[in-house]
Amino acid sequence: MTGARAEADGTPTQAGPSATPAEWHRISTPASSIGSWLPEGALGAELADGLARVEKALSSAVGSEHAFIREAAGHLMAAGGKRFRPVLTLLAAQLGDPRAPGVVEAAVVCELTHLATLYHDDVMDEAVVRRGAPSANSRWSNSIAILTGDLLFARASEILADLGPEAVRIQAQTFERLVTGQIRETVGAQPGDDPVDHYLEVLADKTGSLVATSARFGASFAGADEALVRALTAFGEEVGVAFQLSDDLLDIVSQDGASGKAPGTDLREGIATLPALFALAGDDPADARLRELVSRPVTDDAEHAEGLALLRSSRALARASDVLTSYADRARAHLTAVPPGDVRNALSALCDYVVTRTS
Ligand code: IPE
Ligand code: IPE
Ligand code: MG
Ligand code: MG
Repeated sequence: MTGARAEADGTPTQAGPSATPAEWHRISTPASSIGSWLPEGALGAELADGLARVEKALSSAVGSEHAFIREAAGHLMAAGGKRFRPVLTLLAAQLGDPRAPGVVEAAVVCELTHLATLYHDDVMDEAVVRRGAPSANSRWSNSIAILTGDLLFARASEILADLGPEAVRIQAQTFERLVTGQIRETVGAQPGDDPVDHYLEVLADKTGSLVATSARFGASFAGADEALVRALTAFGEEVGVAFQLSDDLLDIVSQDGASGKAPGTDLREGIATLPALFALAGDDPADARLRELVSRPVTDDAEHAEGLALLRSSRALARASDVLTSYADRARAHLTAVPPGDVRNALSALCDYVVTRTS
C-alpha cells in the first residue's frame, strides 16, 4: 500500500467517470459534513476555529509548484470528507491548552496520513468513487494514485519533523500498524486464526491506530497530564474500531450515495466484513445462498444486488451492529478519566455518532 508502484500504467490522463467538479456532483453529494454530534456554544466555536486553521494548513500542505501534482494532491482534500481525525485531535486538545504549539500541526499530520491512505486504499479496493468524487485511480491511474499518496506521506513527515522525535516515533509506529492491518486484511486470516478475531485485529490496526494517535497527539501537545493522554489514546483506539465497524455496516446499508462511496464495495471485492463472517460461521440452511455469495468476490451486478439485499435483512447484520454498540460503549468507559463537562459530553456524543451515523 505504500511506496510501491503497482504498475507502470502510463502517463496521467483525464480519463475516468468524470473530470470536472460540476460533474462530480452528478455522482453524489460529497460527504463533507463532520457530523451533527459536534457541540454548540463556546466549545463548538473553538473547534470551528481550530478546524479553519487545520484547513488552511492542509491546503498549503497539498500545494506544489507543478500544476498536475497540485491538482492530484488537492483532489481528495477539496472533495470533502468528515475531518474526523483532526476534529478528535482538536477536541482532545481541549483537555489542556488547545492553542499550544503543535496541536493544529498534529491534526494536519493525522488528516494527511489518512488522506494518503485513501489514495492507496482505493487502488487496493478498485474503488471508483471517494468523497463523492472520482477516486484518483479512476480519474487518472493506479500509478498516479499511489504516487500522490506517497507525496502526501512525505508532506506529513515534513510537518512531523518539526514536532520532535517522540511524535515522529509515535507516527511511525502508528503507520506500521495501519499498514500491517491493510496487509493482513489483504492476505486474510491464516490457518489457525479465528476469522472474527482476525477481522477485529485488522480494524484496530488499520483504523484504530490512527484514530488513537489523533486523540493522543491532541491531548499531549495541549499539555494534558499523562493519565488523560493515556485515557484519550485508549478512547481513540476503541472509537476508531467502532468507526470502522460502522463504515463496514454502511457499505452494506447505505443506499443513496450518502457515504460519498460506492455501496457494496466490500461484497464486490470479496472482503468479508463482520456481517459476512457471522453469516459464514452459521449453519442455518436459509442462509446458504448468502454464505455462497459472501465467500467470494461478487462482480455480477444481479448477484451483487442479491447479496446486498440478503445481507441487509440478515441476522448477521444485526449481530454485527450489536458488536459496534459494544465498541462504542467500551470507548465511552474510558471517559471516566475525563473531568465532567462540555468536552467529556462531546466525546460521549462522538460515541453515539459512530453508532448512528448514516454517512
Ligand atoms: C474512511 O474514513 C476510511 C475508514 C477508515 C473508515 P472516513 O470515513 O473518515 O473518510 P472521510 O475522511 O470522511 O472521507
Ligand atoms: C480503509 O478501509 C482503511 C484505511 C484506509 C486504512 P476501507 O476499505 O473499509 O475504507 P473505505 O470503505 O474504502 O473508506
Ligand atoms: Mg476501501
Ligand atoms: Mg469500507
